Amino acid sequence: MPKLEFLDAGKKIEVGKYANIRKVALLNDVELYKGLHKYAFLPPPAGNCLGNGICGTCTVKVVEGMENLTPKTVRERFHLKNRPEDVRLACQCQVLGDVCVLTNHALNYDDLYGKPQQKAAPATA
Ligand code: FES
Repeated sequence: MPKLEFLDAGKKIEVGKYANIRKVALLNDVELYKGLHKYAFLPPPAGNCLGNGICGTCTVKVVEGMENLTPKTVRERFHLKNRPEDVRLACQCQVLGDVCVLTNHALNYDDLYGKPQQKAAPATA
């Protein structure tokens, strides 16, 4: 059986194949959401979307075992287009083998919302 480790929460959990990272985190009291995003009843953008891949607030950083996750979904590719390759939406990926993730990785604006687009410098004559 695959093992899913939440590094910053200090939990290593044996899960079934195709287990959803978000569900495993919530069932095992791993803090997945930051701030108001933990509340599902708040209207967007404050709350979360209950795992439907719409809000983009359930990001995890994959430390080990990226190859043991299902491929990125269309919703992940949309929400994570400006973020590092090792960031995934917990609600959209399923575990196929041993995986280690960080849930509390978004410590700066760029990690959380992506890098702002650079404007082209005006041409000088
Ligand atoms: S819970 Fe909303 S995108 Fe994962």
